[in-house]
Amino acid sequence: MIKQRLPVGVNLIEAPKHYLQQSLKDAVANGFQKTPKSIPALFFYDAAGSQLFEQICKLPEYYPTRTEHKILTDYAEDIISTIPGEVELVELGSGSSTKTRVLFDAILTNQTHLHYIPTDISSDFLLESSIALKNEYDLLSITAIAAEHNDALRLLPKGASQSRLFLFLGSNIGNFEPEAAVNFIGQIRRRMCTEDYLLIGFDLVKDRQLLFDAYNDDAGVTAEFNKNLLLRVNRELDGDFNLDLFDHYAPFIEESARIEMRLISRCAQGVYVEDLGQRFDFEQGEYIHTENSYKYTIEGFGSLCEAAGLMMCKHYLDARSWFAVGLFRKTVGG
Ligand code: AVJ
Repeated sequence: MIKQRLPVGVNLIEAPKHYLQQSLKDAVANGFQKTPKSIPALFFYDAAGSQLFEQICKLPEYYPTRTEHKILTDYAEDIISTIPGEVELVELGSGSSTKTRVLFDAILTNQTHLHYIPTDISSDFLLESSIALKNEYDLLSITAIAAEHNDALRLLPKGASQSRLFLFLGSNIGNFEPEAAVNFIGQIRRRMCTEDYLLIGFDLVKDRQLLFDAYNDDAGVTAEFNKNLLLRVNRELDGDFNLDLFDHYAPFIEESARIEMRLISRCAQGVYVEDLGQRFDFEQGEYIHTENSYKYTIEGFGSLCEAAGLMMCKHYLDARSWFAVGLFRKTVGG
């Protein structure tokens, strides 16, 4: 990372080496021992995977991004006016910060300067986005944190006098198992002062076909995004996955109200991963589980956050109730 080239007003915080989280190697070694075999979803997001996700967001079938964007456009003013005084923005998993621009605009009508703290696991992507943002918005100062969510929270600089608005958008919370979601929201809460707010975007349970199509698009971009994991294993761990021998499939599992991203083996086959010195056998039809994407009801999500010590002061919906954005504060007493 060439820090000297950062424009004035953009700073980068990287996780120190000893923070280094689970490597792809450990994740595959562990995940491939399980039934079904699995790879954690966070490994989607290398530079190529982040680009593919940006493409997913533009797909006609993938409604979450566009719907959330519309909600934010319609209610940004209401959200910002709920928070007294000047604010500082902290965004977990910022990606390209496209939707956040709506909030910048609303905030910058009330204050002359904004400190924006985006965090993302893909440091290249984060830097690129931060520099682009700074060029576009001169009134921003940016502290970019390149780290996984938990590390990012630990690396967060101490707040100034302003209140903070934390953002966790795009239904990223949907990747967590319910228990882990409570835990993670609790982690965010620990970084919040009593005057701070948290805005979470979450996807709602809806018609099965709509859900299915959003994760099984006609153009095959989601398939490519999913198979990027196999490409990474090939490239980074010297594996010999034949991508043509796996099919992308993402069913909605009603009982757990989640989409499961899967890569299904078309035939019985063995895959060798040189860096692990191991061969992995797949039966025909056997799948690798690569992601959960949970869907909620407003009430269900409200109680999940309550379990983490937050209360939903307000929530915003699109006209079709496909997606929701909740505004949270710490419950009294802590
Ligand atoms: C980034 C986790 C919100 O679950 O909808 C999109 C990821 N996976 N298509 C989602 C994803 C397949 C996305 N999140």
